[in-house]
Amino acid sequence: MKHILLAFLFAAPAFAQSAPVTLPGEEEVDAYEVSNANAGAKPFESTTMLEAFHGREGISRIVDDLVEQVQKDPRTIEVFRASDFVRLRRTLKEQFCYILNGGCSYTGRDMVKVHEDHGVVASEFNALVELLQDAMDREGVSFGAQNKFLAKLAPMKREVVVR
Ligand code: HEM
Repeated sequence: MKHILLAFLFAAPAFAQSAPVTLPGEEEVDAYEVSNANAGAKPFESTTMLEAFHGREGISRIVDDLVEQVQKDPRTIEVFRASDFVRLRRTLKEQFCYILNGGCSYTGRDMVKVHEDHGVVASEFNALVELLQDAMDREGVSFGAQNKFLAKLAPMKREVVVR
């Protein structure tokens, strides 16, 4: 029972509703203004997409899968070498959950600020999209729902890549 309670306490902040709640092991970052606008896309209006992603649990599995793969894939390994994966998992889960209308707030930094020092190029962006597609496939998200979600992320390319 104690373990279940502890697991809940540590898992819950990944879907924080308002103030940024950091997880144990996260590195500190410079202060920034917290806003859902930092997520870079407006959320879907109905819950159809959330259902297609199997709710917050499905989103959580997809992000865990993606974050694991970017650390292994030769096309993305370098750019993520020095990353804080505890924070990245938390903020990505919040962002995807917010966009998919899962009732979460996004408490991470905006897409320009967080990527500007990483020199991400278009081929790396495309590689990450492929890894996300693989993760969504493994979760059993329909092709149509995958494409609707990717259409929300696609305009962020100009905020993430330098060339
Ligand atoms: C639409 C596509 C993308 C989205 C939605 C996205 C989202 C995010 C989010 C939410 C964060 C963390 C924000 C925070 O810490 O406050 C982040 C950080 C980061 N992203 Fe992305 N990202 C995208 C594309 C990419 C690509 C293509 C790359 C490189 C291949 C990349 C590399 C990074 C790196 C290196 C960090 C910093 C991690 C750290 O310093 O700990 N991102 N991204």
